[in-house]
Amino acid sequence: AKKAVLGPLVGAVDQGTSSTRFLVFNSKTAELLSHHQVEIKQEFPREGWVEQDPKEILMSVYECIEKTCEKLEQLNIDISNIKAIGVSNQRETTVVWDKITGEPLYNAVVWLDLRTQSTVENLSKRIPGNNFLKSKTGLPLSTYFSAVKVRWLLDNVKEVQRAVEEDRALFGTIDSWLIWCLTGGTNGGVHCTDVTNASRTMLFNIHSLEWDKELCEFFEIPMKILPNVRSSSEIYGLMKAGALEGVPISGCLGDQSAALVGQMCFRDGQAKNTYGTGCFLLCNTGRKCVFSEHGLLTTVAYKLGRDKPVYYALEGSVAIAGAVIRWLRDNLGIINSSDEIEKLAKEVGTSYGCYFVPAFSGLYAPYWEPSARGIICGLTQFTNKCHIAFAALEAVCFQTREILDAMNRDCGIPLSHLQVDGGMTNNKILMQLQADILYIPVVKPSMPETTALGAAMAAGAAEGVGVWSLEPEDLSAVTVERFEPQINAEVESEIRFSTWKKAVMKSMGWVTAESS
Ligand code: G3P
Repeated sequence: AKKAVLGPLVGAVDQGTSSTRFLVFNSKTAELLSHHQVEIKQEFPREGWVEQDPKEILMSVYECIEKTCEKLEQLNIDISNIKAIGVSNQRETTVVWDKITGEPLYNAVVWLDLRTQSTVENLSKRIPGNNFLKSKTGLPLSTYFSAVKVRWLLDNVKEVQRAVEEDRALFGTIDSWLIWCLTGGTNGGVHCTDVTNASRTMLFNIHSLEWDKELCEFFEIPMKILPNVRSSSEIYGLMKAGALEGVPISGCLGDQSAALVGQMCFRDGQAKNTYGTGCFLLCNTGRKCVFSEHGLLTTVAYKLGRDKPVYYALEGSVAIAGAVIRWLRDNLGIINSSDEIEKLAKEVGTSYGCYFVPAFSGLYAPYWEPSARGIICGLTQFTNKCHIAFAALEAVCFQTREILDAMNRDCGIPLSHLQVDGGMTNNKILMQLQADILYIPVVKPSMPETTALGAAMAAGAAEGVGVWSLEPEDLSAVTVERFEPQINAEVESEIRFSTWKKAVMKSMGWVTAESS
């Protein structure tokens, strides 16, 4: 059959904590043409530890690319129209591998992992000055970021120590690992990262946009293992194998930055909230680094080209959002698949007095409290699994409310509506609940794959590719679905929100370094 004639296409890898996807967009219309998704295993070898297999992650990317290409061929779309590939990824997750063998030297230590709690406590005793880390990196010292994970690997894994001594070790977040492998690995792979991913390591100076010698000295991390830092939109290298061999990889953004781009939040004050494994609200602060007084992070939003300016964002990070649904499925078994949560929650329409604080990895913004652990409280003999399901959804909304309150205080101008995306936004109960709890409209694009779209836009716009225009007048208008807060929701929400805060206080101080 005759192949369909389309404009240039752009592919995007979206490697998240829970799954990997590959998606292909039409660069002229931003229409999603085809995609494939594979769930990724998480290993919990000890309490608080979270690991993933870097090889499984790589294989899932190849599988998604191959399957998506097959689907395109079935649609009669010629895959030679794919002119560029972008990569967006779970951030902070840390891989160290051997550049001679191409083998990872340990599992990937996932951003959610808590093993570095005592490393963090020890480091906190010798920080040179109160503002040393925050002023350079925009981040608080926490188990969340890569530097402490690399420190742990250097202290505890002989293979890593030896490979560093013998000059064979490379460090990278998931973007670096993937780009190195996809561009040839041991056969000329490119060891790089972009400014957004680098800004999540705690080794990167967000003002000079370079690895920071003093930070590397503080964490005692050899600079020779770090990847080259590039912009988020330029050709890093070419695909070395598979159906898309020879196609340039020319976009790279941490997934939350990618969603900000995909939601077209290019102006100062524009914000989006992505509901993935965790939940991340980013507000574009333009060319200024704004430092939070209320527990938010300052992070690099994007730099879309070598000669383009850098943009910054304020970020509210919530560790557990979709992960709580996966936990109800895998650990409690009260649902068989994630979408069953909506049905359960709908049966009751309230959790009554039940509150669920899913502080599985401590609490992130705005508390930054590693000692917190998950609690379900307010139970009676009346409570059933439907109430717990509802409380889990409500927890996601309350956590977002805490972030939004902090953001409004830091920015001074309250957000008039919340732009949302991510897998959980298909859940209509959650979206309505969110609008009621925030008491502002929640606005969802009809094409929810904004993370992948952002990475595709960066890749398509790169110098030497030039198939996607980022000029405001060329960006297609996004059609949206709106959830308006219900009349009279405010009073009840306020009462429930203050009870939620009581539950949060109860979750804190559960664990100390000695007891963990
Ligand atoms: O910082 C972690 C974040 O990038 C993970 O994103 O989509 O896997 O929840 P996600």
